[in-house]
Amino acid sequence: MKTTHFVLGNKGQVGAAIEFVLNACEDHEVTGFDLAGPKTCPTKGSIDVMHVTIPYGDEFLNIVGKWRVVLKENGLIIVHSTVPVGTCDYLDAVHSPIRGIHPDLVGGITTFVKFFGGARAIEAAGYFAACGCQAFPFACARSVEAMKLWSTTQYGLSIATEKAIHAYCAELGLSFDVVYTLANITYNLGYSILGKTGVQRPVLEHVPGPVGGHCVEPNFRLLNVQHPFVVFAHHILTEDAPEITLFYTESFDDDLGVDFEADFDPENTNGED
Ligand SMILES: NC(=O)c1ccc[n+]([C@@H]2O[C@H](COP(=O)([O-])OP(=O)(O)OC[C@H]3O[C@@H](n4cnc5c(N)ncnc54)[C@H](O)[C@@H]3O)[C@@H](O)[C@H]2O)c1
Repeated sequence: MKTTHFVLGNKGQVGAAIEFVLNACEDHEVTGFDLAGPKTCPTKGSIDVMHVTIPYGDEFLNIVGKWRVVLKENGLIIVHSTVPVGTCDYLDAVHSPIRGIHPDLVGGITTFVKFFGGARAIEAAGYFAACGCQAFPFACARSVEAMKLWSTTQYGLSIATEKAIHAYCAELGLSFDVVYTLANITYNLGYSILGKTGVQRPVLEHVPGPVGGHCVEPNFRLLNVQHPFVVFAHHILTEDAPEITLFYTESFDDDLGVDFEADFDPENTNGED
């Protein structure tokens, strides 16, 4: 019997890629739901694994909690979205962050080691190992959630450093190519020859404007709302982005605005209504 997978947010960058990767295994039967797609849903209690790929926001826990009704008893939730530390323990879910080059994330999911954190990480990792991914299970969801938040934050700080050096060189009439680019290329080369690969530095191209990025600032906000890092914040945050609040709810209801009793049609899950 096939394992039934359900991707919540399957028309987004992450959701579409997860759906594609899961379909590589013939033992998987994959369906999904997206606000931007057809409103066909699995019947209640029909799904083995729910993959959450919608962006984190004030309603995230409530939305995921409501969608639990599609799961079989003892069904598994895997959250691929980037979330504040503690989210997956709260949901009794496994966390598995996404790494890759957007918008097409399939290559990233199948190339990078994909981490799975939580009590049921081994089971979750098994589904992706069956699809050819390098799956690494780890018992602690919080560590894996923090891994993702710090990954993009480290990248943001590297960009902020590059920008500071670029502005400094421009102000003083110095060569950015020498002070930053050639300095770091040859630094990495020398230390790699000497066997010190652990001190390699990113060598970034200069892009005018703020740190920006698809995920850097939003993820830093998720990190910062739990543990404010004032020094880092000065470099990464812009003033006009909205504040983040953490929203926890005691109970979930069934009011998703969709018809769970509708027949589940696996042919009708790819955007054709
Ligand atoms: N895109 C990336 O490169 C990338 C990389 C790593 C992590 N992430 C994380 O993955 C998550 C998703 O990012 P994305 O880039 O795929 O976003 P996206 O905007 O491309 O897609 C999100 C999808 O979720 C759908 N959606 C939103 N709310 C929904 C709801 N209540 N019910 C059903 N569908 C809903 C939207 O319609 C949309 O299709 C975020 O947490 C993001 O930080 C993204």
